[in-house]
Amino acid sequence: MPKPLPFPEILTRVARSVGTPTYVYFERTIRKQIERLHGALEMVPHRLLYAMKANGHPQILRQIQTAGVGIDAVSPGELLLALRMGFRPEDVLFSANNMTTGEMHFAHRQKVLLNIGELSRLEAYGKAYPGADVCIRLNPQVGAGHHEHVITAGADSKFGIPVEFMPEIISVLEQHGLRLRGLHQHIGSGIPDPATLWDAVSVLLKQAAEFPDLEFVNLGGGLGVPYRPDESPLDLGDFASRFGDTLAAFSRTHDTEVWFEPGRFFVAEAGVLLATATTIKDNGDRCFVGVDSGMNHLVRPTMYGSYHEILNLTNPDGALRPYDVVGNICETGDRFAKNREVAEIREGDWLAILDTGAYGMSMASHYNLRALPAEVWVPEDNPAQFRVISERQSPAQLVGRIMREAVMPSA
Ligand code: LLP
Repeated sequence: MPKPLPFPEILTRVARSVGTPTYVYFERTIRKQIERLHGALEMVPHRLLYAMKANGHPQILRQIQTAGVGIDAVSPGELLLALRMGFRPEDVLFSANNMTTGEMHFAHRQKVLLNIGELSRLEAYGKAYPGADVCIRLNPQVGAGHHEHVITAGADSKFGIPVEFMPEIISVLEQHGLRLRGLHQHIGSGIPDPATLWDAVSVLLKQAAEFPDLEFVNLGGGLGVPYRPDESPLDLGDFASRFGDTLAAFSRTHDTEVWFEPGRFFVAEAGVLLATATTIKDNGDRCFVGVDSGMNHLVRPTMYGSYHEILNLTNPDGALRPYDVVGNICETGDRFAKNREVAEIREGDWLAILDTGAYGMSMASHYNLRALPAEVWVPEDNPAQFRVISERQSPAQLVGRIMREAVMPSA
């Protein structure tokens, strides 16, 4: 059984009035996901941040901010955007990987807390700003994720300071009088089994217990969402009943808050990518459906072999048939689905590619010099009043921009 099609009338109206390819975001889903996580953590004094790399559209950031959720920013660009959107510096944690000296000074000047994952950077920060506040990203040596590319802890991972280096960390902190406000970990994305996360959390808590003045432990992001029809949503009730009491007890004994910083969990299911089937190529043993989008708009299937449900918005009750749904980019890997049963697709049909709110548009590119999709916002109180929040770029605009920005020797 395919996944149910969310809000088919609204999606149809968007496709008709805005055209395709278009990302559509539902405010309602984001609100619900934030509430679900708050609810599961109600027994723990906690704070939520949003990993804005999942989708940094200002409209989404606005909703995040209204919900009282802070920001995990990983680059000067993300940091600037968050501050320009009105997040206060104390609501932002800056976790740049391989942070440069310039980035370090920049973030410090913005008065945000730096989350440092390299011993040499910690040393440099201490030298530059003795007595400053700091958060440290540890590698708890337990990692997990939906694909090896997104496992961010363990021996194979470049992230965080390995937990065995705690004596060195302490010596740098002491030498420069740095005040350790938080310990952080992020072990991976789309963690299949919350028990693995818990193994890592146990390592972190053990270290955290050694710092009496610690204000928070940040357990990272990584919570999964169901992409396939047979997957069920993460059982947050079970998660809370297994780990909530321990976290609450830790928090009470050590007077620390527990932070989480999900990206995917808040926004993935809120997004749908609408595309039009432009070409049906029935090769006998294989039927290719070409669409007006591709790996430049949604790279996850190509990059990680990720599954995204694809539904026929125009012909939802058509007989199921197997298709290879492919994009318009000049690479064979540009494939959204292989041998996938979809209700019969005709040229011109609109397809809905589900659960694309996270790591869809934020990873999109102009590859093959194709323009980016439009983006549409569906407000919760009146979904029929959807509105375009990013205009579709035309090829002429894209080329115009490239020509304007190019630095060329004069002829
Ligand atoms: N915190 C840090 C420091 C992170 O690096 C990330 C994600 C998160 C939090 C949020 O993780 P989430 O809750 O979204 O799993 N492009 C990949 C995902 C890469 C995630 C990178 N870091 C994908 O499309 O699956």
